[in-house]
Amino acid sequence: MRACNIVYAIAAGVGLVGSVNAEEASAARAVFGQITFELSCAVCHGLDAKGDGPMATQLTVPAPDLTLLGMRNGGPFPTKRVTEIINGGQAVSTHGGQMPAWGLIFLKDFEGFNRDSPRNDQALVRRRIDDLVVYLQSIQEDDRPMPLTHVEFIPQPMIYFSARASMEPEQIGQLMTSAFETLGRFMGEAMVTPVGPPLAVYRDWADGMMTVEIGFPVSDADAAKATGDINAGQTPGGHALKAIHRGSYDRLHDTYAAIEAEMKEAGMQQSTLMWEVYFGEPGRTPDADLVTEIYMQISAEDAAKLPTD
Ligand code: HEC
Repeated sequence: MRACNIVYAIAAGVGLVGSVNAEEASAARAVFGQITFELSCAVCHGLDAKGDGPMATQLTVPAPDLTLLGMRNGGPFPTKRVTEIINGGQAVSTHGGQMPAWGLIFLKDFEGFNRDSPRNDQALVRRRIDDLVVYLQSIQEDDRPMPLTHVEFIPQPMIYFSARASMEPEQIGQLMTSAFETLGRFMGEAMVTPVGPPLAVYRDWADGMMTVEIGFPVSDADAAKATGDINAGQTPGGHALKAIHRGSYDRLHDTYAAIEAEMKEAGMQQSTLMWEVYFGEPGRTPDADLVTEIYMQISAEDAAKLPTD
């Protein structure tokens, strides 16, 4: 445990984590998390986090496989819930297991270490638990966009910037940047307030080209202000399948490939109308925390094959 404290004191002291770019910081944190995991968690959960540590046979409730935390929650990695469980050791299942409350244990650890230098033990505990969570997230085997769910939408007024564009990811990225600049300028001048997160609607793709409408849902009154390059229209409606992509936009194609495979397996018909809704601000939000909701229009018949969101 001592080695671990020293690593933390050094990391906190030099401000290692947080001063580098988001990806490196996340990798560094996963390494710290792994160190803690091997020292404190592997005894029950196993070195590979699969639930088969040396103490596993003595537990009344088995230590769960921690590489499947996303799947059991029906999709994205449940950061908040996992953080709370590690911190408070709350009984996860109704029969009450023996998962210790690590918040208190880690606090004791830090209390016994180097009283001469003032520091915030609570912050070190939080950091250590956060690093554990980053590590657990990095070893998820089920970090897939699945499951697909079914949602039904009523169209809403929307303002948007439209372009016929290549489907090359890099060009889409550039188009997004300039579209949001144009939209931002217009919304500032016309005092338009979005009523939801930004979205991009993709239509009519063929031969590597498609029509993209990038914009925001707005009120009827604000939609009426659309002028020049800014159009007024409606967000898509009807039945859609929903999938969630987490992380960098560079990896969106993996998620689309997974959706396609899943649809094919279920015998569902692909359509040529889909849209993405963006949560988080690229450049400001760490890549790992970016969330993209992906919707694809489907028939009522296909919608019936999916669980409702
Ligand atoms: C003494 C054995 C033991 C140790 C050590 C231990 N755990 Fe656990 N853990 C358990 C048990 C048992 C459960 C299931 C509790 C229940 O179902 O009530 C559990 C549950 C969990 C869960 C919830 C999983 C789920 O399916 O929701 C997480 C997350 C977790 N542990 C993380 C950790 C981390 C991180 C550490 C190290 C800091 C750790 N555990 C150390 C025994 C242990």
